[in-house]
Amino acid sequence: MSSDKVTLRFQNKAVICRAGTSVAAALWENGIRVLSHSPKYGRGRGVTCARGQCTACLMRIDGIPNVRACETAVCDGMTIERQDTGAFYGPVLQKTLATADSLFPVGFYYKWFTRPAALSRMFLQGIRPLTGVGRVPDAPAAVRSLPEAADPPARPAATEDLGSVDHIIVGGGPAGLEAALEADAPALVVDDHPSPGGQRAAALREACEHLGSRLQRYPTLAAADDRIRSLQEKFSERRDLRYIGHSRIVAGYRPNGLLLRHGSELASVEFAMLTWAAGAMDVLGLFPGNDTPGLIGPRALYRLLCRDGLRVDGKPVLVVGHGLDLWLSAALLSARGAHPALVVDGPGDQTEISAAVDEKWQLATGMKLASLRTIRADRISATLVPRRSAPGPINSHLELDADLVVVCGEGKPSFDVTYQIGVDYELVPQAGGFVPTRRTESGYRGTLPDGAPVAIVGEAAGTGPQVPSEGAPS
Ligand code: FES
Repeated sequence: MSSDKVTLRFQNKAVICRAGTSVAAALWENGIRVLSHSPKYGRGRGVTCARGQCTACLMRIDGIPNVRACETAVCDGMTIERQDTGAFYGPVLQKTLATADSLFPVGFYYKWFTRPAALSRMFLQGIRPLTGVGRVPDAPAAVRSLPEAADPPARPAATEDLGSVDHIIVGGGPAGLEAALEADAPALVVDDHPSPGGQRAAALREACEHLGSRLQRYPTLAAADDRIRSLQEKFSERRDLRYIGHSRIVAGYRPNGLLLRHGSELASVEFAMLTWAAGAMDVLGLFPGNDTPGLIGPRALYRLLCRDGLRVDGKPVLVVGHGLDLWLSAALLSARGAHPALVVDGPGDQTEISAAVDEKWQLATGMKLASLRTIRADRISATLVPRRSAPGPINSHLELDADLVVVCGEGKPSFDVTYQIGVDYELVPQAGGFVPTRRTESGYRGTLPDGAPVAIVGEAAGTGPQVPSEGAPS
């Protein structure tokens, strides 16, 4: 076996895959999309966020349950199992639940039979084996982390090294870098990407290089690339700004503490001032089949392609949406040799649309995604219908088959940690979900209950990726 290949055992069968990728990507390339099942109806779940933020890819790896396949590197001899194969009555019961859906409200399995305790225990003992979650490890084994970048930034030696900082900026994308450059005092920037630029930086770089002189026909991409490059350059010139990559804030503690995960280490940090620029998460939309394995958002696509090197050459990929992420996904997929088919579901983007036509990408406008269904293990069929405002027969529709479907819309602001430390939020669907109350166009500025200043900026405040910052280079 050459050193660039490793052999895994998946459900007791040998699977040969590339070294240096994640378990989720390795299984994907071997035609295995279903990593787990939903507890209630047993519906297949595939890689969804690709960043450790959901439960879709929880698997039993080397005997350890609840390991995230999207964040675990493959290694020779690794054993991987779906952990939710359940009890013998599981599939039968799940099928029954699916046909009698209306009788079983959302979350019935943890809301019903909670009293008395003896009944609750019996109920849980019966229901838990449905999913199989919770079996203890067969034998001790080390959980492996994704390999770090070839040139990782300096990491903090220990928890005490972080201790307390004057100004912490969470998020190293454009909004976080802008906040750091505006600060006239030292600041610490924390992000899970290895270097400053954020979750689109590597994808943008590759897509722009692929388009070459044609890039100017995609003004949205050109502006975003210029903005990131300029911010990266200015950031690297400021000696008082420190960047820690491969790190993620996983919790907040009142009055002014954060818990940071750096690889497999945890560190606590206290701050005098916080800027939250942690961006947004993918939103896939509400339509039948929106949990189909093989449906992902653009941020997951960038991670799977740029971090894991997912092979998509020669594959048909459907990209639906509008704005920066639609064109960036299309250009990146094209750079990797995939065949993107685009459905532009919003107004605007006229310049890019005519460029895409010249690129010979299959393209439809005035349509929206109506439903998805799996037609074989590695193929999805999408039904598209006209948007209500579009002209044309009301009952016309389009069927497209693809290996992968990417839905690009406004993201859902990331808010959990700032909520934990006392920022008030309200639900504003047009802004992407829960956003800080009393936010303005430039984000949110306020104080935490103990008086520490806090700012929430960029997509984390719900501004969306399609709104370029004022004064951004064009
Ligand atoms: S946590 Fe792995 S796909 Fe979401």
